[in-house]
Amino acid sequence: MLRANNCGELDNSNVGQKVTVAGWVNRRRDHGGLIFLDLRDRSGIVQVTFDPDKNRESYLIAEQLRSEWVVGVEGTVFDRPDGTSNPNMSSGEIEIQAEKLEIFNKSLNPPFYINEESEVDESLRLEYRYLDLRRNRMYSNILLRHNVVKFIRDFFDERDFLEIETPILIKSTPEGARDYLVPSRVYPGHFFALPQSPQQLKQLLMIGGIEKYFQIARCFRDEDLRADRQPEFTQLDVEISFVEEPDIFSLIEKLFSNLVSEITPELQVTSPFPILTYEESMNRFGSDKPDLRFAMELIEITEIDGLDIIDVFKSVINGNGIIKAITVPNGSNLSRRDVTELTEAAQSHGAKGLLTIAIEGDTDLPLSEIKIENIKSPLSKYLTAELVKDLSVKVNASVGDMILIVAGEKLVVNQSLGEVRNVLGDKLNMKDPAKLNFVFITEFPLFQWSKERAHWEATHHPFTAPKLEDMRLLGESPGDIKSRAYDCVLNGYEIASGSIRIHEKELQEDILRFIGYSSKEMDERFGHLLKALSYGAPPHGGIAAGIDRLVAILAGEPNIREVIPFPKTQTSQDLLMKAPSLIDNQQLQDIGLSINKIIQEE
Ligand code: AMO
Repeated sequence: MLRANNCGELDNSNVGQKVTVAGWVNRRRDHGGLIFLDLRDRSGIVQVTFDPDKNRESYLIAEQLRSEWVVGVEGTVFDRPDGTSNPNMSSGEIEIQAEKLEIFNKSLNPPFYINEESEVDESLRLEYRYLDLRRNRMYSNILLRHNVVKFIRDFFDERDFLEIETPILIKSTPEGARDYLVPSRVYPGHFFALPQSPQQLKQLLMIGGIEKYFQIARCFRDEDLRADRQPEFTQLDVEISFVEEPDIFSLIEKLFSNLVSEITPELQVTSPFPILTYEESMNRFGSDKPDLRFAMELIEITEIDGLDIIDVFKSVINGNGIIKAITVPNGSNLSRRDVTELTEAAQSHGAKGLLTIAIEGDTDLPLSEIKIENIKSPLSKYLTAELVKDLSVKVNASVGDMILIVAGEKLVVNQSLGEVRNVLGDKLNMKDPAKLNFVFITEFPLFQWSKERAHWEATHHPFTAPKLEDMRLLGESPGDIKSRAYDCVLNGYEIASGSIRIHEKELQEDILRFIGYSSKEMDERFGHLLKALSYGAPPHGGIAAGIDRLVAILAGEPNIREVIPFPKTQTSQDLLMKAPSLIDNQQLQDIGLSINKIIQEE
C-alpha cells in the first residue's frame, strides 16, 4: 500500500501507531544532525523527522529532498518534544519518526512558492495551474465548489427533480452573445453551435412531460470578458411545469438559504429575500443589481421648492428630467480626491456632473440652526440655509453629512447615482463580507432598444412570457411592456436569472416577428420549438444560476477565475494548453474549411 494515512488527519490519538503517508515535500529543514520534513497531501501537513542514529538509510535519502518532490514515508507517531508543538497545524502536536523513505518522483524547482500564500502573477499561475491547485487558496475553493454542487444535487433530488444532460453540439440558442461554432465534417459548410445555455432544450423537456428538470450545465458564450464572466461557465439550470413566479422564488430562496447554512454557516443570509420590481430597484438604488448590504437610497428632489431657480436644475426640469440625491453620512469631510472619483463614477454613466453640498459643523448642531456659513458647495451662491434645510429633511441629511446630486434624464440620473452609491459602498466599507443579501428583481421590460441594430430586442431571451395585459402596448410603446422575467441578485451581482415562458405558439411567433425574424428565419432557427409548442406544451418557467459567481461570492473571491480549476484569461485564452491554437491542414481539409486570413502569432 502506497499510503494508509492522511497527513493532516494524524494527531495525538495516533501516538505509538505505525503509519504510512505519502505526499509532496512542503519544506525540508536540517537541524543539529536531524532532518525535519513537512510532508503535505490534500488533507494537510505532518512533520516527519529523520534521525541518522535511528535509521541511517532514510536519513541519507532525506538529505537529497527538495521542495515538491513526491515521497512515501513509513514510521511511528510520537508526541513532539515539550515546547516544540505547533498550534497552527492540526497535526502540530505529533511527528512521525521515519523508518522508511521512498522517492516516488522528483520535481523541478517550481516557478512560484507553493508553501506560501504570496502574490503571484496570474498568468504564471494559469500557465502552471496544476501547481497553483496545490496551494491552499485554490484547493479550498475547489473543495467549496464540490460541496456546493453536491448540496444542489441532493436538494433537487429530494424534491423529485430529474437531472438530465442536454447535448453540447446543438443549434444556436440565443442568449445575447456570439456562438462558439463547431464545423461538421460529415456535412461540409454546416456548423453546430455550442449552447449559450440549454434554454430551448429544457423547454422541450417540459413539453416532453418531464415536469421538473435540473442540470449542472456547461454554457459557452463568445463575449467580452469581465471579472464575473468566462467564455465557458457553469449554470445550475432549472425548469418546472405548472408554475408561476412565487413557486420559483420560494424554491430558490430555500435552495440558497439552506445551502449557506449548511456549507458556509459563518455567512449571514437575510431572509425573507426582498422582491423588488425592476422599476423600484432602479428608482431606489439606481441599478437592477443592487447591493442591499447597505441602504443609502436615491431620493428624488425634483419637487423641492427653490431648486428651479438654479440654472442647471431649471433646464433639466423644463426638459422633463429629474433631480436626485444621496446622502453620505459624515461625508462633509470627503476629500477633493474622493469627490473627483465619485464625479468620474457618475460621468461614466452619462451624468454631466455631480453636485455636492457639504453641511459642515459640529454633529450635535441641530439642522434648524445651520447658517449659510455651514454650507460648502459649488452652488453656494444660489443656496439659502432654508433651502438646504428643506433639502436635508427630504434626503435625511444632518450636520456633518454630504449631499450628492445628479440632474438629467431619468435613466442617466438613476444609473449615475447608482454607480456613485456603489463606489461609496466600497469607499466607506459598507460591503460587509460576512453578509449575503439576496434580492429578487421582477418585471423587467420585455424589450430593449438596440442602438446597434436600430431594432427592438428581447431583454432576457425571446422565450420569456410578457405580462399579457401589457401586450396592447406592442404597437405604440413596446418599451413599456413588462415581462415575467426575474433575476436573483446577491451582494450586487446577478447570480440567477429566469422567467415564465411563452407556451403558446402564436404568441411566440408574434414576439419573434416583433424582434425582427421573418417567417422564413423563424422557421429555420426556431421551427423545432414552434412545432413542439403546438403539441400540448404545458405552462412552464425556470431559472439558471451562475455556479461560478455563487461560489466566488461564498469564497470571498474577487473574480470567478479563482473558483474555476482551468479558467480562460481575460482575453479568452487557455495559457496552460495554449488554446486556441492553429490546426493542421489535414484537419482543415477534413471539415472542408480554408483559412483566408491568419493573424500571425507573435
Ligand atoms: P442568463 O444568460 O442570465 O440566463 O444566465 C444565467 C446566469 O448565468 C450566469 N452567467 C455567467 N457566469 C459566468 N460567465 C458568463 N459569461 C455568464 N453569463 C451568465 C449569471 C446569470 O445570472 N437560459 C437563461 C436562464 C433562464 O431563463 O432560465 C440564461 O442563461 O449568474
